[in-house]
Amino acid sequence: MFRPRLVRLSLGLAFAAATVTPALVQTGGSAVQAAGCPWMNRHKSPDVRAHELVHAMTLDQKIAELYGRGDITYYGAANDIPAVPALCIPELVFNDAGAGVGDAMVGTTAFPDGITDAASWDPNMQRKVGAAIGWEAWHKGIDVQLAPGVDIARDPLGGRNFEYAGEDPYLSGQTGAAEIEGIQSQHVAATVKHYALNDQETNRMTDSSQVNERTMQEIHLPAYEAAVKQAHVGAVMCSYNRVNGTYACENSYLLNHVLKDEFGFPGWVMSDWGGTHSTVKAANNGLDQEQNISSGTYFSSALKTAVQKHQVPMSRLNDMVFRLMRSLFAVGVFDDPPPSEPQAATAVVDTPQERATALEAAEGGAVLLKDAHNVLPIAGANKRIALIGHAAGEDGAQDFYQGGGSSKVPIAGVDPAVVSPLAGITTRAEADGDAVTYADGRDLGDAVATAAASDVAVVFVGDGGSEGTDRSTLSAQDDTCTLVGCSPSLTSEDQLVEQVASVNPNTIVVLQTGAPVTMPWLSKVRGVLEMWYPGEQDGNAAAALLFGDVSPSGKLPYTFPKSLAQTPIRSAKQWPGVNGQGGYPVSEYSEGLLVGYRWYDAKHITPLFPFGFGLSYTSFRYSNLRVTPTHAGAVVRFTVTNAGSRAGAEVAQLYVFDPPAAHEPPKQLKGYDKVLLLPGQSQTVSLTLDSRSFAYWNTHSHSWRVAAGCYRIGVGGSSASLPLHGSVGRGGARC
Ligand code: BGC
Repeated sequence: MFRPRLVRLSLGLAFAAATVTPALVQTGGSAVQAAGCPWMNRHKSPDVRAHELVHAMTLDQKIAELYGRGDITYYGAANDIPAVPALCIPELVFNDAGAGVGDAMVGTTAFPDGITDAASWDPNMQRKVGAAIGWEAWHKGIDVQLAPGVDIARDPLGGRNFEYAGEDPYLSGQTGAAEIEGIQSQHVAATVKHYALNDQETNRMTDSSQVNERTMQEIHLPAYEAAVKQAHVGAVMCSYNRVNGTYACENSYLLNHVLKDEFGFPGWVMSDWGGTHSTVKAANNGLDQEQNISSGTYFSSALKTAVQKHQVPMSRLNDMVFRLMRSLFAVGVFDDPPPSEPQAATAVVDTPQERATALEAAEGGAVLLKDAHNVLPIAGANKRIALIGHAAGEDGAQDFYQGGGSSKVPIAGVDPAVVSPLAGITTRAEADGDAVTYADGRDLGDAVATAAASDVAVVFVGDGGSEGTDRSTLSAQDDTCTLVGCSPSLTSEDQLVEQVASVNPNTIVVLQTGAPVTMPWLSKVRGVLEMWYPGEQDGNAAAALLFGDVSPSGKLPYTFPKSLAQTPIRSAKQWPGVNGQGGYPVSEYSEGLLVGYRWYDAKHITPLFPFGFGLSYTSFRYSNLRVTPTHAGAVVRFTVTNAGSRAGAEVAQLYVFDPPAAHEPPKQLKGYDKVLLLPGQSQTVSLTLDSRSFAYWNTHSHSWRVAAGCYRIGVGGSSASLPLHGSVGRGGARC
């Protein structure tokens, strides 16, 4: 029996509804059926419960769980599968994504994008954001949240980099794992995506990522491994692209061999929307569920026929359903199902508490890149502040609070209540007796006159980004990007900064970009703050950071190059790929392991800003490194001291330098910790390195191996500043 669809939202209707509180929410009805459903006994393990349920299902009931109905208008969600009350199976609602509960949902909070979370280097914050998104998702009737994204930012022009967690596999893995733990703590299954090597938007449906085994294992897959082994993610979404010639969603190496066998993933694999290309091949090669913008094409009646003809074994069909149900039991979807319609559809969950989390996240991920002459924080009373740039105004705030595409909250319909920089900064400035004058920068003369008449000029520089479109240039564009492309840039952001800086020595640039941009004006401005796409608390976060209510504490999750010519992408063969013999475009990952800082280190290239870099309003001192070898690796202890006069948080980073025998990039991030310190306060940080921290992927044994030799260890506040050095021998070697 299908649950009747009571509510189909016409966008915008539901804002009138009252804010929801957990106590008022009605939960789904599966508990009342429990008597006839032995698998509803919470004391049994997820495996036992899933086995019992699958055993009780008919062929049609099994097939029915394996494809989304493609009804994207279904109360604003990305997809759904109807409930089966007779089996106590709840309705399944799937929704986007990592920066809040989006699609056509209303009344939800627009959090900062994934790159902000990554830039915080703060698992507690990431868990908190994940839990906040999970809480909202649950109250909106969602069972499966289509987040987080953890693909590696291989090229700074990648259109979805802002949704992901940067260029380093360890940082991406830890960021994704923390977000997953947060989401799943709310009885909503998380979906790590897009598996795998989905690193460009150009030809994203057809392109093949051509990559060798070692590069895959060391750079592009470990974030998924962390999601599976560390965070027990419920679902994995396979990607649109091909990998080594085979679509990711029917790629047995990726799905069966690596994900399910090597990583031991017990959950289910769903395709990206429209990413399923076959029935028998996909099912046998590891895809468990088809998701599409129309009702199942390959996994509905075609799958039933394939099973009846024994082209897909019944054991495999059972496995597909088992994997889905096992995850849903493990996460708690059966035991604590979300509210059903119509309560969920009309719930407003953008509560003060959620907004506070969105604000904290925006503040925690902002990266201070330059602060000459202590131009920041803005101090003293009665100043004249020029606020300049489209991104700072009300319209601009709507353009740059998040990147475009399926992750945007909401993707369509009612604009969220974004606090513009103009509103947030004006309110904060007035508290100090300062006066703010705004010029949107589209009239250059007006912007220059405003800056010349002020004590401080703060220029907001926006650069749009969206799923569906790769960036065409590294220079910041004042454009708006959606799934169908970007609008033309309306101001020359670089020219605007140059002109303002030429009349006001105290010029501060606030970047609102999803990825690295070039800064030809860098030497002419005193301050640069990278705020990424900061979510609906945009202006409040900007004000708190600029006025020093909060000290910036983010660190770069990507290297910022000086120009495209510095990056590891040297030819169109690598990016965006050229047509290959198979009749589809091929992108050669010939940079191999040299992605991000690994490339800059190996080639001795000094970028604009290195990976891991970020300043604070205070300063930190590192001392007292002790490396204690253990059976598996080492414990590394050191002291971080706040040597300045303000409270602040520091991200202490640990890099391992492998011996030449390992043939690894010069150094690699293997640990970090974010510590909050009062002025003068010290803290001992302890980081544990396991055997994997020293391992490389051996392509003969197809496994992780540790080369014998001396491993150097560097600790500090950025990949380019590692004041503490130690070493540890492995494999019997001494240092
Ligand atoms: C995107 C996914 C998203 C899905 C559902 C796809 O186009 O690539 O990230 O989760 O749509 O909206």
